[in-house]
Amino acid sequence: MATRTILTDEDKGLSKKSREVTDFNKRLHILLDDMRETLIEADGLGIAAPQVGVLRRVALIVDTNIEVTSDETAMDEMMVELINPEILSIDGEQSGSEGCLSVPGVNGIVTRPMSVKIKAQDREGNFFEYEGNELTARAICHEIDHLNGELFTAKVERYLTDEEVEEMRQEREEAKRKKP
Ligand code: CO
Repeated sequence: MATRTILTDEDKGLSKKSREVTDFNKRLHILLDDMRETLIEADGLGIAAPQVGVLRRVALIVDTNIEVTSDETAMDEMMVELINPEILSIDGEQSGSEGCLSVPGVNGIVTRPMSVKIKAQDREGNFFEYEGNELTARAICHEIDHLNGELFTAKVERYLTDEEVEEMRQEREEAKRKKP
């Protein structure tokens, strides 16, 4: 496994539509393994292949609702690999802060569905359905947008100041500590 460089929004590839994956081969597996390592290092909630310069419909999201067996492997256990993901249905609405590894230092308010049902394929090509709620729904929609060449900045209703971002971070930390 190796980490790959995350492209920033100055790279034209990020505004291109990615192509479907048809070969579930070793090359795909290496890409997925590298994306996993890259996402862990970047400490993000999701990453899409075009962000590492590969215009294929491959994405990874972190679903914090997945129960993990150990703290050490938590990030790895919470990651869901989505190949050729397609939205089947959406429900509700949420408005909240969003950022992107390709747009460092920028956070803004984006409205997303509260829950989303998708179908996708795993690394062997098997189809499965998945449902994400709240933050996971946000991450899934954000990553599928990447596969269509869309950045979250196109959907930002209001950008957040550094102070607001810091406040939200502290609130999250506080909420974590209160968890039993
Ligand atoms: Co992003």
